[in-house]
Amino acid sequence: MTIKIDDLTYKFYLGGQWIVSKSGKTIDIVSPYLHETVGRVQAVTQDEVDEAIESARKVQKDWEKTSLQIRAQYLYKWADELISMQDEIAEVIMKEVGKNFQDAKKEVIRTADFIRYTVGEALHMHGESLVGDSFPGGSKSKLAIVSRVPLGVVLAISPFNYPVNLAAAKVAPALMAGNTVIFKPATQGAISGSKMIEALDKSGMPKGILSLITGRGSEIGDYLVEHKGINMISYTGGTDTGALLAKKATQVPLVLELGGKDPGIVREDANLKEAVKHIVGGAFSYSGQRCTAIKRVLVNENVADELVALLKEEIEKLSIGSPEDGSVIVPLIDDQAADYVQGLVDDAVEKGATVVLGNKRERNLIYPTLLDHVTVEMQVAWEEPFGPILPVVRVTSDEEAIRIANESEFGLQASVFTSNINKAFSIANQLDAGSVQINGRTERGPDHFPFIGIKGSGMGTQGVRKSLESMTREKVTVLNIEE
Ligand code: NAP
Ligand code: G3H
Repeated sequence: MTIKIDDLTYKFYLGGQWIVSKSGKTIDIVSPYLHETVGRVQAVTQDEVDEAIESARKVQKDWEKTSLQIRAQYLYKWADELISMQDEIAEVIMKEVGKNFQDAKKEVIRTADFIRYTVGEALHMHGESLVGDSFPGGSKSKLAIVSRVPLGVVLAISPFNYPVNLAAAKVAPALMAGNTVIFKPATQGAISGSKMIEALDKSGMPKGILSLITGRGSEIGDYLVEHKGINMISYTGGTDTGALLAKKATQVPLVLELGGKDPGIVREDANLKEAVKHIVGGAFSYSGQRCTAIKRVLVNENVADELVALLKEEIEKLSIGSPEDGSVIVPLIDDQAADYVQGLVDDAVEKGATVVLGNKRERNLIYPTLLDHVTVEMQVAWEEPFGPILPVVRVTSDEEAIRIANESEFGLQASVFTSNINKAFSIANQLDAGSVQINGRTERGPDHFPFIGIKGSGMGTQGVRKSLESMTREKVTVLNIEE
């Protein structure tokens, strides 16, 4: 069945069918670098949301009863379909969210790997049993059998920047765990999400197991989140949206992956050349539009001049321009995002920061910008730009670096660059972050590692096994043995 009505217009996926919304409305998806409409997605109505959730509820028990081996076959098939569609999907990701083709392709391959690993992990998750007599006064005649059961219907809401990978990172564990899914992609990312679901549909997955709801979060988001038919929400996106969502979603388990302001802490004893490679890769790939991008450098003042010179040299090598040319620095997702980034740079410059490189803009293409002598009075020291700018804050001690790192509202990841492993562990222990990377850039992968945001960076843990756990609950059956 075709997922499109014409060259540009996509249908949405309800109960196993690609259909046109009764709203009669579509949303134009404008490419961030072509600046033209590359597709249209359906603006789904509340009644259609009800229908999708109803169809997910209807089939959930059957899906739960379906053996793990059979569920595994569908998901393996899905991964295979993604691999055979990798060029086609990568092209769509590139056009829709402006990621360069090679990185878009890597995203699709990573997604297939993620799905396969999820299947393997789910097949190897086992319950446990407890005998009653280990508790005072308990008896051997009581045996608790603890198993994991699905939660029901999972609402998966994903962001624009990894429109396939971060969506599948919710859908795959939800399905393997026996849940059914309502998937709401970011609007800018909804075509990529639709292609991913086209691959899932090709696996022959039973109808109704998943529905894809397209439409603006500002219009249908609250309705979805507050819907009584939803049993769990897995959300990835901005902190403000996540905080609103957490207020609206009552009495359902919630996993939130939100924004970050990951610091790269550079000690005096660090191998600066190595640190610079990690920092520049971490800060600037996909124009810094990664939750785990290094978003500030806290460097010891004694090596700051040398570090800044090396950073400048490395940043100057970055390719800038169209994602079609494989550029690292590409136009940001929209003009508004670029305005926001420019505002942070302007504020820093006004307050005395030194522009070492960049501060140049062509519409939504922000040139890689390195700001030195950034102080804690400047917004760029605290706010998440989601763009290619790197503020350098000079510090006098480890203690000062730790203090500034921890004063952030965010707590996703942090990097520590040092040749002293004891110091590295000591600093890591004091940092308020979900993960600390020692002598490496902040990053999510490998995707089976637990991935955690604390404070304004989230709630709950992702990573294959943790996602499977968060999408199930424990259930205890007690056998009372007659003696
Ligand atoms: P966003 O604007 O907050 O949107 C995220 C998702 O929420 C989209 O699907 C959006 O739909 C939806 N949404 C908007 N309003 C909603 C509402 N009222 N109810 C329910 N859903 C609603 O974020 P983004 O710009 O796509 O992504 C960038 C942000 O995500 C950055 O802050 C980044 O750090 C964060 N992020 C975090 C992680 C992580 O793992 N921690 C990973 C990736 C990205 P529409 O697109 O239709 O508005
Ligand atoms: O944008 C957030 C992603 O989870 C980051 O993943 O570190 O592999 O780029 P990444």
